Amino acid sequence: MIMKTIGNIEVPAIGLGTWEMGGRMEPDFSQDKHWIDIIRKGIELGLTHIDTAEMYGNGHTEELVGEAIKDVPRKDLFITTKVWSTHLKHDDLLRACENSLKRLKIDYVDLYLIHFPNPSVPLQESLAAMNLLVEQKLVKLIGMSNFNRSDLEKALRYTTQPIAANQIEYSLLARNKGTYVDGAENEIIPFCRENNITIIAWRPLGKEKFPILASHPVIQQICNRYKASPAQIALAWLIHQKGIVTIPKTGNLQHLTENADAIKIHLDELDFKWLCQAFSS
Ligand SMILES: NC(=O)c1ccc[n+]([C@@H]2O[C@H](COP(=O)([O-])OP(=O)(O)OC[C@H]3O[C@@H](n4cnc5c(N)ncnc54)[C@H](OP(=O)(O)O)[C@@H]3O)[C@@H](O)[C@H]2O)c1
Repeated sequence: MIMKTIGNIEVPAIGLGTWEMGGRMEPDFSQDKHWIDIIRKGIELGLTHIDTAEMYGNGHTEELVGEAIKDVPRKDLFITTKVWSTHLKHDDLLRACENSLKRLKIDYVDLYLIHFPNPSVPLQESLAAMNLLVEQKLVKLIGMSNFNRSDLEKALRYTTQPIAANQIEYSLLARNKGTYVDGAENEIIPFCRENNITIIAWRPLGKEKFPILASHPVIQQICNRYKASPAQIALAWLIHQKGIVTIPKTGNLQHLTENADAIKIHLDELDFKWLCQAFSS
């Protein structure tokens, strides 16, 4: 089982994403039981790093996570949530965290991320609030999401607490061209490695582009060799790399088991390179 660290905390290299569990920008209560069961089963399978955000389902996704984890010993979980870009002023950010904790029914989050940079609020102001949350022990670690290299440089200048993570889109299908930031592999990941910032790869399976990945002949040959599925090989390619963890999302129990089992796959260096060549960067 491949473990990594975020800040000073050990986490499994594969966690669980929750975007669209319980709604997109608005809550959808119609499948609550299903999502709670998925999160609980995920935890049983070792997907104990759970990634959510106040924006998901306008808070409802955090409520679902809170319900799913309520009987799990807190120390066995690593909970990440994110403050939305309209809440980055100092007091708004403190209030956003307090509200997330209430919805999650916990008294601290392991990792609190700024979901997106917002140039209309000075980063220094947001970071002062993030730092205060750590001092108040409401947050163990702080980090960023969708930050490029120059955003990260600014963050490092203004923070007193370490920046433990940067969550960016990164997969075989999005190595340097992302939806929100470019240069993941060429620029952001090397910078993060130099500065001890763990990369949390979002959209590791490419979501709706997954069939492109799954039907690629090189993936299929590597799947045969490892007796693994295409999703497992895509996840194994990510976690093979130093300083990278990932958080695939699924609503399907078989996929959940597959994703959790991918943590046991150690890709051979030659197969890793073959995949890099097959999917242009
Ligand atoms: N920081 C940010 O701005 C940001 C942005 C986007 C996402 N995220 C985070 O990253 C997480 C993951 O990204 P994502 O949800 O966008 O995309 P993803 O995890 O790459 O893809 C999810 C899709 O892949 C399918 N899938 C999952 N496991 C599979 C498997 N083993 N085989 C085949 N298909 C599989 C799922 O369908 P089934 O339900 O049918 O399995 C789902 O439709 C999110 O949930 C969220 O927590 C963060």
